[in-house]
Amino acid sequence: MRRLTLPGAALAGALALAGCGGSDASKPDLSASSVYMPQPVSADMAAGFLTIVNKGGTKDELTSVTSDQAGRITLHSTSGGAMQEVTSFAVPAHGRLVFESGGNHLMFENLKHKPKQGDTLTLRLKFAGSGPLTVEMPVKPATYNPSTDH
Ligand code: CU
Repeated sequence: MRRLTLPGAALAGALALAGCGGSDASKPDLSASSVYMPQPVSADMAAGFLTIVNKGGTKDELTSVTSDQAGRITLHSTSGGAMQEVTSFAVPAHGRLVFESGGNHLMFENLKHKPKQGDTLTLRLKFAGSGPLTVEMPVKPATYNPSTDH
C-alpha cells in the first residue's frame, strides 16, 4: 500500500515540463518490500527489517517510524558489531535503503503484546520529502532471514 503526496511547489516546474502522464522521475517514488520482524523473545524489545525502494530520480530521507502497537520505534545502524541510534536514513535516487539482520534495523520498544509468528504490525514511515507510507510488517519465525533462505 503506497501513499505519496507531492512535496509541493518545487515540483511545479518539472511537472509542467514532463508534459504527459505516467510517473514523474523528478520526485522520489518510494515503496517497501521484504518487510518482516523475527519473532522476539519478549515485548520489551524487537528488531524489524525492510527494504525501501526509490524508483524516482530524487533522493529522500526516512525520518521516523511509528506504530500503534509499539511504544517507541527507533532507527539503528550497526557498525563493527555495535548498534547506534540515528535520526534518519537516506533513500538514494534510483536506489534503496536496506534494513537487514546484522545491519540497519528498526528497534521496537515497549510493544503492547509480544509479537508472535503470524501476527502483523502496522507501521507508518515518515519521510523528509514524500508523504508517509503505511507498511504491514509480518512476524516471522525467530530464525527467519530472507538473505539466507535461498
Ligand atoms: Cu538496535
